[in-house]
Formats: sequence, structure tokens, C-alpha cells
Amino acid sequence: MPQARLTVHTDAPGPAIDPHIFGHFSEHLGRCIYDGLWVGEQSPVPNTRGWRNDLVAALKQIRVPNLRWPGGCFADDYHWREGIGPRAKRPRRINAHWGGVVDDNAVGTHEFLDLCEQIGCEPYIAGNVGSGSPRELREWVEYCNAASGTLADERVANGRRDPWKVRLWGIGNETWGCGGNMTAEYYAGQFRQFATYTRDFPNAPLYRVASGAANDDYKWTEVMMTLGYRGPLNPAPLMQGLSLHYYTVPGSWEQKHAASPFDRDGWRAVMSLGWKMDELVREHSAVMDRHDPKRATALVVDEWGSWYAVEPGTNPGFLHQQQTVRDAVLAALHLNIFINHCERVRIANLAQTVNVLQAVALTEEGGGRMVLTPTWHVFALYAAHQGAKRLRVESNAANIKHDGREYPAVSATASLAADGAVTVTLCNTDSEHSADVELSLPGRAITAPTAQVIAAKTLTTCNTFDQPRAVTAQPLAGVVTKGAAVQLSLPPGSVAALRFAS
Ligand code: AHR
Repeated sequence: MPQARLTVHTDAPGPAIDPHIFGHFSEHLGRCIYDGLWVGEQSPVPNTRGWRNDLVAALKQIRVPNLRWPGGCFADDYHWREGIGPRAKRPRRINAHWGGVVDDNAVGTHEFLDLCEQIGCEPYIAGNVGSGSPRELREWVEYCNAASGTLADERVANGRRDPWKVRLWGIGNETWGCGGNMTAEYYAGQFRQFATYTRDFPNAPLYRVASGAANDDYKWTEVMMTLGYRGPLNPAPLMQGLSLHYYTVPGSWEQKHAASPFDRDGWRAVMSLGWKMDELVREHSAVMDRHDPKRATALVVDEWGSWYAVEPGTNPGFLHQQQTVRDAVLAALHLNIFINHCERVRIANLAQTVNVLQAVALTEEGGGRMVLTPTWHVFALYAAHQGAKRLRVESNAANIKHDGREYPAVSATASLAADGAVTVTLCNTDSEHSADVELSLPGRAITAPTAQVIAAKTLTTCNTFDQPRAVTAQPLAGVVTKGAAVQLSLPPGSVAALRFAS
């Protein structure tokens, strides 16, 4: 008797799943950029113009669609002119937000955009509103995107002939907090002013993302959609995206739980806090729907992920944490939520790419080895959804209750690719019991799918430099095809992907 019956409706494909839902975020924070992605050209670690080759390859493999930079909180303290021109002449600045370390500006606009070209992803630049000016941001856009004029000449002199045509621009970050401690009403005016001066250059229209709410601050979204959405005389929206930040923080902000070990309640706390994203996306979307019923503007979840206590012995300002299969399930839950709400959620960014928070990779200090985290393996399994059409999944899976909240024991998404293949991704959020699933695809002649699963014998196991493949995707055994249905068993606390060829 299956615990969950799932029906995938292949006859009525929904909207395309924007690949940008699978975006990432790299801040000048801890060892994300420096001694993470960036090792410098002189490093013994194999690199291309300073960027680690193994990391670039790992990011290409999961088809990273966009990378957000330079922050985070760092963005509103960052002055782009300090990061161009000869490196030896660039100023050395204190990174006031993250550990008070010196940032020598070795990575600036040219280097970051080179990284994006190496990965094959779109850059998503977060502009400085908190301590910058409309003119500074306007000139950054012009430096990147103009084909002629003094700023284009300067770019060419610095080694880049063609404009990069950067499309995605954040207009400030967390302006309610580290980005200026502004009220929503004040920032709405700031946004309109900055958005006006970040200009479109020929063949380079901008996608402006306003700094949005934290967590369940629906009033912020309401104010932005009322006062920040458009100018008084101009009916066209000024914002193409409005952001939302939400982290899964077990414990309290002051005393976060460790990434590992944890007990049953620790597992459940992460699942139930993570599932809150579903409510947040629905409620913020409902506010946006009232002002923008045609969904011209996207909800951009440009910071999400687990946030634990830092690993013992590491700099508290560096936010370095380990991961287990619990994070893989958390990542799958989030991606399922974004896919299920992809009419409105069209960009999202996991925090952060390497060595910081829910990273997809960890590197040894000072160079050396790299390890892929369980979360990387989830992004690898989910890459098949990029650009495919979402399929509705009906489920009778029970909910698990924890601490006054509920979340589904089995969460699922499905999509139909251009080549006719159907991908179904599932996660079992129950850490104690396997989930017997019957999955039917009525009206479709199915053959045995290829099936992979991310699971761990011991849920608290981490991938380490000595044991890099403790938690990876493996073939899922025991998938039985019966007519238009398959039966399978998901191990406790696991993520699976099934692919039905056309
Ligand atoms: O991702 C770490 C920090 O979390 C970011 O800098 C900030 O935007 C958020 O508070």
C-alpha cells in the first residue's frame, strides 16, 4: 500500500520554468570569492585568469544560469571604480560587514564578468544604493553596457572592447537593514530615482530588481508595489523584479544550531522552517497580484538557504558551514516551491556559491582540494527542469507536523522538456521512514525511467576532503513500472529524480 499516490498531468503543460530559478550568489564574504572561486593568476591551483578551473567546471556542470555579485550587504559598501584598472593600484578596503578583513579589490568588474563568461552564465550585479549615488550606479551601467563615449573608452583601455550588456541589476540590497536601514516608503522613492538613472543602452535593456522584503514583511511588498512600482506620469513599471530574502535558521539568530550533528527534532526544524518559503511566496505573490495581475514583475528570491552556526575554529564573520543530506532535501524543497510558483518566481539565488552558508562546493583553505556538497548534487538532478514546461502534480501525501507548523512528507515537481522527456523530482522529508510512492502519468505510454537518488546511511554524514563522495546521487534501485504508473521507495530523508524518455 503506497504512502503517497502522485499523479503527473502530462496533458496540460503549464508555464516554462525560468532557468534563472536555479541561480547562485557570490559575495565578497569569507572565502566565497577570495580563496574560494578566486585564487589569483599566480596560484598553483589550476586556474584561468585567476578563477579556479575545478569550480568553474562544477558550476558549468549544473548549468548555473546567473550569478549575483558583489553582495549582499557588501554591495551597499562597494564602489565599482575601486575595482577597475591595474590591480596594483586598486585601494585596499576593510570589509566592514564580514570579518573586518582587507579586500584588495583584486576582483572587480572585469574579473567578475570574466568569471560569468567562463561559467556561461548571466551576471546579476547588485548596485550600491545605501552609500552610493544614482550617478555612481548610472556610470557603472554605462561602463558595462555602452558601445561609445568616455566610459566605454575607459573600459576598452582596461582591456574589454565589447560592452558586456549586463541585463540583471539589483537596485540596492536589504535596504531595510544593512543596505541603509530605510523605511519602505523612503526606499520606494530611492528606488524610483535610482531606477530612472540606470539607463538602457542600445540593445542592452535592463532588468531592474528592487530590494524587497525580509521574510513575512508583506507591508514592504505592498508599499513597493504602491509607491515604488512606477513614476507619477509613467504607466510602465520601473521594476522588472522585486526581491524576497528568507533563510532557514534553526535555533535562534543568536544561537543557531550546528549543520551537523542533529537529532530528529533538528531535522524537522529545518524542514518546517524551510517549507515556510511556500507560504512566503504565496503571500508576497498575492500582494503583487493585486497591483500587477498580469505578473509583469517577478518575485526574485535572490537569497535563500540554510544558515547554521559557523564551523568550530572558523572566523565567525565568514559564515562557513558544513552540509548533510538534510540540506539536499532542503534545497529540493525550495526548488520544488519555486517551480510550483514559477508564474511569479522567475529568478532565485542560493546563498552562497562556495564556502559560505549553503554552498554547492567547499575548498581547502589556501587552495588545494575541492568537494561538492549534497546541495550541488540536487542542482545537478534539477538541471533538467531548466526551461521545461511545468506539469501539475497531484499528491495525497500526508503532512508532517512540527512545532506548530506542517510540511508535506513527500514533495514533488514535474516538467516536460522540449524533446518530450518528462522529469519528476521528489523528496522524502521524513527522516525516519522510507516513503512508498506510486507515480502515475495517465495518458502517457511510459517505459522504465532512469532514476537517481541522493540519500545517506547516516543522515548526519558530510562530504569532506577525505570522503568527498559520502553523499552523492546514485541509481535508485527497485523502480517498478506497471502500465502508466511506477512504484518506488524513497529512502528516509532523500531526494530523487526520474526521467521518462519521450
Ligand atoms: O548571505 C549573507 C548575508 O545575508 C547577505 O550579505 C545579506 O544580504 C543577508 O543578510
